[in-house]
Amino acid sequence: MLELKGLKLSYGNTPVLNGVDLSVRRGDVVSIIGPSGTGKTTLLKCINYLVKPTSGTITFDQLGMDYQRADKTTIQAIRLRTAMVFQQFNVFKNMTVIQNVMDPLVVVQQKPMDEAREIALRELERVGLSEKRDSYPSQLSGGQLQRTGIARALAVRPDVMLFDEPTSSLDPELVNEVLKVIRDVTSSGITSLLVTHEMQFAKSISNRIVFMDQGVVAADGSPTEIFDTPTNPRLTQFLRSELAFH
Ligand SMILES: Nc1ncnc2c1ncn2[C@@H]1O[C@H](COP(=O)(O)OP(=O)(O)OP(=O)(O)O)[C@@H](O)[C@H]1O
Ligand SMILES: [Mg+2]
Repeated sequence: MLELKGLKLSYGNTPVLNGVDLSVRRGDVVSIIGPSGTGKTTLLKCINYLVKPTSGTITFDQLGMDYQRADKTTIQAIRLRTAMVFQQFNVFKNMTVIQNVMDPLVVVQQKPMDEAREIALRELERVGLSEKRDSYPSQLSGGQLQRTGIARALAVRPDVMLFDEPTSSLDPELVNEVLKVIRDVTSSGITSLLVTHEMQFAKSISNRIVFMDQGVVAADGSPTEIFDTPTNPRLTQFLRSELAFH
């Protein structure tokens, strides 16, 4: 459903993506792993159109979207179809939890208030935050903030969920509640791309693992192929260092 070909991107003179090829099928849960600074966040941002690739193509086939020639309407449609959950929570501080979830439904999708509220309540239930619906972000824990962000992203019913290290800024005791929500989301069949350093988690929820190194996809395979029988020396080295670190 999502096809990336020869994707390149430079920030000024610094090349970050050096020709990424990636093909994602509907229902895939793809975890993206790799060393820091290798372009993982940048890749997700390209898919969400937060940054525009220097060259290469992204096609979102069933919608026939051409990223290179996208106008404003197309860009907005791409953003709605590919909801992104950031490491730093994507919530507005001046809105309550439920207002945060309703916001894209009302502002972007222009749904009536009643319907938006109904959808928001359902998504909050899904992430276990029904009771916190009238709280403000300043009254929430990091895990609750991140779950609000996930509910907000899910509310628009995207085709693809993009998670960028959703647990890396959380205190260790809050990580599991967010991983549980992500596990629920991915097992519901929604196509997901997840950048993570949680190797065990990636292994348990993904049907594919992509190893990025120096701006390219250096290895792409099943969790078993990537974690148990890696053939790429850089991957082996990376896995060893992750294991030592965690
Ligand atoms: N807006 C920007 N302007 C200039 N350089 C940037 C910008 N964003 C990222 N970079 C650089 O691009 C490279 C890739 O960054 P990116 O955030 O995609 O890496 P990453 O793989 O997500 O790393 P990490 O695991 O640390 O999150 C880094 O060297 C980074 O410093
Ligand atoms: Mg990153």
